[in-house]
Amino acid sequence: MPSKIAHAKSAQRSLIVTIDGPGGVGKSTVAKLLAHRLGITYLDTGATYRVLAYAALEHQLNPVTDVAQLATLARHLQLHLGATTNGSLRVTLGDRDITTEIRTERISEAAAQLSQHPAVREAMVELQRRLATHQEVVVEGRDTGSVVFPHATHKFFLDANPTVRARRRQRELKKFYGGAQPPLAEVQEKLQLRDGLDRNRRVGPLMKPEGAMFIDTSRMTAQQVVMKMWRAIHGTPRGGRRLPQ
Ligand code: DC
Repeated sequence: MPSKIAHAKSAQRSLIVTIDGPGGVGKSTVAKLLAHRLGITYLDTGATYRVLAYAALEHQLNPVTDVAQLATLARHLQLHLGATTNGSLRVTLGDRDITTEIRTERISEAAAQLSQHPAVREAMVELQRRLATHQEVVVEGRDTGSVVFPHATHKFFLDANPTVRARRRQRELKKFYGGAQPPLAEVQEKLQLRDGLDRNRRVGPLMKPEGAMFIDTSRMTAQQVVMKMWRAIHGTPRGGRRLPQ
């Protein structure tokens, strides 16, 4: 008979945590922290669409109209997502580090456009599942609990009020590019535009997956959100494991 410990380990091995929500809601920060604390892999599906957008522009493809070429490119994308020593995500295409390059507004816009095409999404979902093969993962995006991993062990959906989200996105842009912060109204308008695209597409729209826990992060720190998720995964500290520091 398998021991309780062996059983607990095998149960742990199947951990797949999905975190979905709109841009600027704090998904990446929280997903990275949670993955680190759980000691499992962090998978940023938004980064995969951004790498495709980067490759597409390099090949001079139109992210709105060149659907067949984009899908072919997606099927052959040589991307690698790895952790850096400071815990952030290192993104490479072939042997080139494009960690910073994929965070520009131009790439954000192209990623939002090409992620509308069902044929592209199909290839990207396949790629995302492949990246997670034989691993425990915290995966974040727009459709990770509904389409990519509908059988995930734990699902979360994050949201926050539009101004808070715009401020967070503003900080993120400053982190990557330094200099002056772009005006809040401009960031908010762009977020809203992309939200519309994400929520209204036919395939893999942004939505709260069935069975997902909803968390409004407007007035919460990243640590508080992680604590809430940890409790949902392991039970409250009184009844389950303590959150490691
Ligand atoms: O989370 P992000 O801003 O890095 O995502 C970049 C784009 O990719 C965004 O416009 C939405 C799209 N995306 C998607 O369609 N599905 C996902 N699972 C993740 C991101």
